[in-house]
Amino acid sequence: MNELIESAKGYGNKIFTSIVKHGFDNTGLTKSKIMFSNVLLHIQPVKIHKRTVKFKTTLGLGLITTYMFVALAVTGVVLMFHYVPSTALGPDGLPDAYSRMLNLRSNVFWGDFMRNMHRWAAHGMVAFVALHMLRVYLTGAHRGGREFNWVIGCILGLLTVFLSYTGYLLPWDQLAFWGVKVGTEIARLAPGGAIIRGILLGDGDVGGEALIRFYVLHVAVLPAIMGGLIAWHFWRIRKDGGLARPADTSGEKQIPDADFGEVRNNSVFKSSRSYKLVELVKGNEPKVNEEVDQMMFAWPKLIIRELLVFVGVMVLLSFVSVFFDAPLEGPADPTYPTNPAKAPWYFLGLQELTSYDGFIGGIVIPGLLAGGVMVLPYIEMFFESFSKTYRKNIPGVWFAKERALENALFIGMYIFMLALIIIGVYFRGENWAIIYPWEQVAGGGH
Ligand code: HEM
Repeated sequence: MNELIESAKGYGNKIFTSIVKHGFDNTGLTKSKIMFSNVLLHIQPVKIHKRTVKFKTTLGLGLITTYMFVALAVTGVVLMFHYVPSTALGPDGLPDAYSRMLNLRSNVFWGDFMRNMHRWAAHGMVAFVALHMLRVYLTGAHRGGREFNWVIGCILGLLTVFLSYTGYLLPWDQLAFWGVKVGTEIARLAPGGAIIRGILLGDGDVGGEALIRFYVLHVAVLPAIMGGLIAWHFWRIRKDGGLARPADTSGEKQIPDADFGEVRNNSVFKSSRSYKLVELVKGNEPKVNEEVDQMMFAWPKLIIRELLVFVGVMVLLSFVSVFFDAPLEGPADPTYPTNPAKAPWYFLGLQELTSYDGFIGGIVIPGLLAGGVMVLPYIEMFFESFSKTYRKNIPGVWFAKERALENALFIGMYIFMLALIIIGVYFRGENWAIIYPWEQVAGGGH
């Protein structure tokens, strides 16, 4: 009998080790094997600078944005099992797309929760990507070789907004229809905007053709581009030498010895010789009397922190989705405009600007801002290269006093956009007249 139990244990072990090819001891070798033998973990480095795990380095904002994207992908696929991108009227006299929303609310198991989660994660992602960009700039992490990753990030930011916007139309309710109508009217003002608008809508106006185009962009084209760009963004972080950090961190607290792991197999990270192959390849001198190592294993400290942020994001999203329903108004009616007709909140700054002057507010200012922000690191680099007095960038330091002017301007831009959005959401009523927030009637901006 005992023999049988032993054989069963042995068989179980063999199955386990065929999947998990490492133990969980405290040796450096195991800590590195855990990282590079796991499909999810291997995109991260085995060793990271100790600064990486400090909360103040990133505030977790890029990670939160990533997890919002994951939540959107998962809930989005679930919703796709049910949704139909059609404006054809069903037996109940309602457009198919809209009656699917009503079904999700009442008849589909967990449908309401999935829709809420998808909606709130979409808004959350737009907000967190903006905060992430702010933190990157205020810590000077857009420079020091990271300029191109900043550009990739900007494209990701624009895609995030566009992804959210294409999804906005899908419920085919009044909110969706008039919100998208307003947005695409703004596009008309740009040079060549009418052509882009035509391609996007597939017709002269927002209708069934626009719905199917927005749907394909929303569920296939944009997420695929976004997934690829996120992977590139992460890859660049590694190639740019990890997260930005101050040039000299030697004065900061040292890493406890335990984080280096027991070194049993010294052929992996500690060389018995005074040089390593990688140093020869880089052309460095052999290291002699090197300063205390600032690099630590990513396993387990970084991974546990990442997991905690993940759980936090999911708990928060679930909580919000249980208590707050995603809005749904009456079915889209192209003959009955809502008044005011407001774009989604992240476009309300733009809509507010266009209310002063269509071309300057809707195209020139946002175009200059978006284009300027995208090439900002290169503008700074230009000044640095040609002016002897221009202050150098200080990477990895929050609010570096040498960059007070740049930071103040960047924060000023955020405050300007936020103020416009707040005016658009709370202080604009019928016919875009100024009102107090308590006089507000439903009309979009969500
Ligand atoms: C879908 C949108 C985005 C995702 C999922 C994303 C994700 C991330 C993650 C996970 C990191 C690692 C550090 C951290 O957690 O903060 C990071 C770093 C970085 N991101 Fe993003 N990001 C996005 C958009 C942006 C935008 C809009 C910008 C700027 C315009 C940007 C610029 C950067 C830069 C320069 C770094 C390196 C920062 C450093 O070295 O400290 N990213 N991103």
